[in-house]
Amino acid sequence: MMVFKSKNEVAIKIKALASEDLSIGFVPTMGALHDGHIALMKTAALENDVLAVSIFVNPTQFNNSTDLDKYPRNVGKDIELIYSHFDKEQTIIYTPDVDDVYSDQIIAKHYAYGGLENKMEGASRPGHFDGVGTILEFLFHLFKPARAYFGEKDFQQLQIVKSLREQLALDLEIIGCPISREDSGLARSSRNGRLTDLGWITAAKIYQSLLLAKEMYASGKYDRIQKTVEQTYDKIENLDLEYFTIAREVDLETAPPAEMPQKGLRAFVVAHVDGVRLIDNMKLS
Ligand code: PAJ
Repeated sequence: MMVFKSKNEVAIKIKALASEDLSIGFVPTMGALHDGHIALMKTAALENDVLAVSIFVNPTQFNNSTDLDKYPRNVGKDIELIYSHFDKEQTIIYTPDVDDVYSDQIIAKHYAYGGLENKMEGASRPGHFDGVGTILEFLFHLFKPARAYFGEKDFQQLQIVKSLREQLALDLEIIGCPISREDSGLARSSRNGRLTDLGWITAAKIYQSLLLAKEMYASGKYDRIQKTVEQTYDKIENLDLEYFTIAREVDLETAPPAEMPQKGLRAFVVAHVDGVRLIDNMKLS
C-alpha cells in the first residue's frame, strides 16, 4: 500500500521509481473525490507508468476561513475510492497534514502569471492563485512528474499552472481534461455535497445558462448574451450570480461583443446556491 503522510517517504519512493525509469502521472486534489477527479486519474494512469495523487486541502488558497472550515474532508473514503479503480502497486497517494507541507509559517509565496492572476477568480478571491502556485511548486518538486493533469472545470487555474510551469522552467507536461458533469449538466464538484436536494436542481441552471450563451453566440446575438444571461439569474430563486464573463482562452481577456465572433472564446460563470460557491465554464467557439 503506497499511502504516505510524509514528504520524506514520498521523496524516497520517487527516487526509487526514477532509478527504474518509470514515468509519473500526477493528479493534485483537495479530496472529497468524485468522478471528475477519477476521470483525470484514469487519463494519468493510462499515459504513465505510475499514478500519483495528492489529497490536501491547501489552506493558503482559501481567502475565506469559513470556506476552508466547511471544505468537505474524507480521506479514508477517498483512498478506498482510488483503490477501487486503480492497481495498488502502481498508485502513490500523498495525504499530508498541514505541518508536513508548511513547516514554519502557513503563508503563500507571491507569483505573477502575466496578468492572469488579476482576472475573474483572481479578482474575486485575492491571494487564491498565490496559494495554488505555492502548493503546486512544492508538489511538482516533490513528485517530479512527467505529466500533471488538471480539469478544464477550473479553466483559469489550468492556464495559471501552464504559466507556472513556464516561469519555473519545469520539465513536465500540463494536460487539461474535459469537464465531468452530472446527468443534469451540473459540473461535478466536491462542494456539490453541501447542496440541498432543491439546491441540486437549482444548480443545474448554471449549466443551462452556459448552453444559452453558447446558443446565442452561434446565432450571432453577441451584444445580447451578457444581459440575457444575467436576466435568467434574476428570475431564479436561490441562484445568485457572482459573475458571468466571456473571455479569450489564451489570456482570459474579456471579449467585447463588437469583437465577436472570434475563435477560442469561453463563457465563465460563478454563482451561489444554498450559500455554496459554484464555478463552471463552456467553450463558445
Ligand atoms: P480540486 O478542486 O480537488 O480539483 C482537483 C482537480 O480536479 C483540478 O484540476 C480540477 O480542475 C479537477 N476537477 C474538479 N472537478 C472537475 C470536474 N467536474 N471535471 C473535470 N475536472 C474536475 O483544484 C484543486 O483541487 C486545487 O486548487 C489544487 C490544484 C489541488 C491545488 O491545491
